[in-house]
Amino acid sequence: MTCEQRSTVYVETYGCQMNVSDSELMLGKLAAHGYDAVDRPDAADVILVNTCAIRDHAEQRVLGRLGELRRDMKPGAIVGVTGCMAQRLGPQLLKRAKHVSVVLGPDGYRALPELIERARQGERTIATTFDLEEHYEDFQPRRFDKVKAWIPVQRGCDYRCTYCIVPTTRGAERSRKLADVVREVESVVADGMTEVVLLGQTVNSYHDGEYDFADLLRAVGHVPGVRRVRFTSPHPNDFSDRVIEAMATVDTVCEHVHLPMQSGSTRVLKRMLRRYTREGYLECVAKLRAAIPGLSVTTDVIVGFPGETDDDFEETLAVVREVGFAEGFTFKFSPRDGTPATRMPAELTVPDEVASDRLARLVETIRGIARASNLQQLGRRYEVLIEREARRGDALLMSRTRDFKTVLVPGDASMLGNYATVELTGTTGSTFTGQIVRERQPLPMAG
Ligand code: SAH
Ligand code: SF4
Ligand code: F3S
Repeated sequence: MTCEQRSTVYVETYGCQMNVSDSELMLGKLAAHGYDAVDRPDAADVILVNTCAIRDHAEQRVLGRLGELRRDMKPGAIVGVTGCMAQRLGPQLLKRAKHVSVVLGPDGYRALPELIERARQGERTIATTFDLEEHYEDFQPRRFDKVKAWIPVQRGCDYRCTYCIVPTTRGAERSRKLADVVREVESVVADGMTEVVLLGQTVNSYHDGEYDFADLLRAVGHVPGVRRVRFTSPHPNDFSDRVIEAMATVDTVCEHVHLPMQSGSTRVLKRMLRRYTREGYLECVAKLRAAIPGLSVTTDVIVGFPGETDDDFEETLAVVREVGFAEGFTFKFSPRDGTPATRMPAELTVPDEVASDRLARLVETIRGIARASNLQQLGRRYEVLIEREARRGDALLMSRTRDFKTVLVPGDASMLGNYATVELTGTTGSTFTGQIVRERQPLPMAG
């Protein structure tokens, strides 16, 4: 395509980091086919909505947004729906939204330029076949973030948690070759990025046939120029001693783990098919903490899962207090069509008011613990990486410690990507404000 023929594309991303990474891949693919990214839908020849199906609320938001886009889009613009909702709903989406002409699941992005072309000819297409070989190795992602790089290392999921739609929307688990991951990490370092975040649904079950996640952490963590390695989300059952040892011994691996717990009750965990007990989860946290001093732990919790009693919920609160999570993402159970949880006896359904009440108590408990712990941190010094501007116009930058604390520091955009030592001067309870003591100090330094 010649320069005069370049078109514009706008992507809106919902859901998890895997979707963010997929959007970067799609934009990269389209850039190679003559599309420039724009940041407004009404300026775009092609609008892509990269969707999430994890909870009903996520899907409703997308459906609402598709309605708005119909009003805002340029006449004749092509609208594509990609990602997990596209995979789940396929033809239903074409039926519901007449202005959508491309529906593309997570393994189909290679066909994007061709399907857009066909849409221009008036065709409406759906491509939702899984491709277990597909890792988009030859795509050049166009990254949104200039400081840290999302690196997918695994696609799909082989667990079958009974509430979860992901195995349906993303298919079976498969890992990229270690050498391919390392090559991508080297290329982001060459572009000036120093933090990498390895992505997978159960990222620590990574295995490429030859190398496991411990090998991967070592290989990525030792790429010259990498200063911080993070990963999300691990599954408690896949923390082998080898993986924990790699985390403990590779200096660039940060002292933070996001370890989804879902429930603190063994009865509920069993019904969720999480494959660990309350004690198993606690033991996993204890092992990680023993190996990695200063480790902070964040989590995901679902309330109102079918059959969850008051006692079960009290057990969840007790584990939350015992672990002392630095942060928790909390969700009300949302039944997803076709998942085993929807086939549980109706009398097990937790009434919405009860679930809402539990959610509020859980949020309050997690916040209270985080606040108390954060107040203790005031006056301490940490190394931060300055990630982005906090909010428009207020001359504050958002930075993070290795253990994932958010610290707002004064400064300007020229400091993005720099490391600094900060002293924590205040806290809202969840985030901190800080003063820079020293910028760009030498590596490595643990929090
Ligand atoms: N693969 C990750 C989680 C992916 S989904 C893992 O296993 O940890 C992110 C979070 O959404 C989950 O941890 C869970 O807490 C929540 N979630 C998933 N399905 C849900 C549902 N049906 N209802 C409510 N929350 C859900
Ligand atoms: Fe869903 Fe469970 Fe797989 Fe996570 S491990 S993506 S919660 S099925
Ligand atoms: Fe949502 Fe799909 Fe991620 S369902 S959470 S975008 S894997």
